[in-house]
Amino acid sequence: MEIHRFEKLWVALSLLLIVGFIGTVTYGAVGAGVKMVDESGGTVDANALNDHPRFGEPGTYQTGENEYEVYVVARQFLFEPGTNEPIRVPAGSTVTFHITSSDVIHGFEVAGTNINAMVIPGQVADVTVRFEETRNYGIICHEYCGAAHHTMEGQIQVVPQSEFSSADLQNPDAFADQNDPVDDADAEEEDN
Ligand code: CUA
Repeated sequence: MEIHRFEKLWVALSLLLIVGFIGTVTYGAVGAGVKMVDESGGTVDANALNDHPRFGEPGTYQTGENEYEVYVVARQFLFEPGTNEPIRVPAGSTVTFHITSSDVIHGFEVAGTNINAMVIPGQVADVTVRFEETRNYGIICHEYCGAAHHTMEGQIQVVPQSEFSSADLQNPDAFADQNDPVDDADAEEEDN
């Protein structure tokens, strides 16, 4: 069977395209440094968040020197904290966000960063980031969650260390002694 010259050319171009597509997908998956939000955050009872030791009092917890954990509850149509009061963290810190929803599926996207998580009732999304510079970031909900979805937004303020105080923490005792953060589950285990 003889294959026409042009047909060979098009077959070659098609194969090249397929290789190119696979290449872009592979790059997006492993080359771009994108870390997917997985199930490591675990689950919570979406109907009993008030009883949860951290989601019951959502906010910023210090867990080590320059290490913070921020618990955020998303609900129609606000982030707590984030919307009525901004999330405040000091610059030069590593921050792990734990985000969950008390009602329907929301989104948690921090504009200008690669933080982007779907927030599912009963499921905790964990995202860890390092904030180096002082600046404000906008948070938006990017999953349609109801009539006022488009108004659901918040703010993260990365402030200088000097402007960050124990008043910004849900566990101010941890702040008093930087070398011995007391409210960290791991630290408690070490103490025992
Ligand atoms: Cu919450 Cu859209």
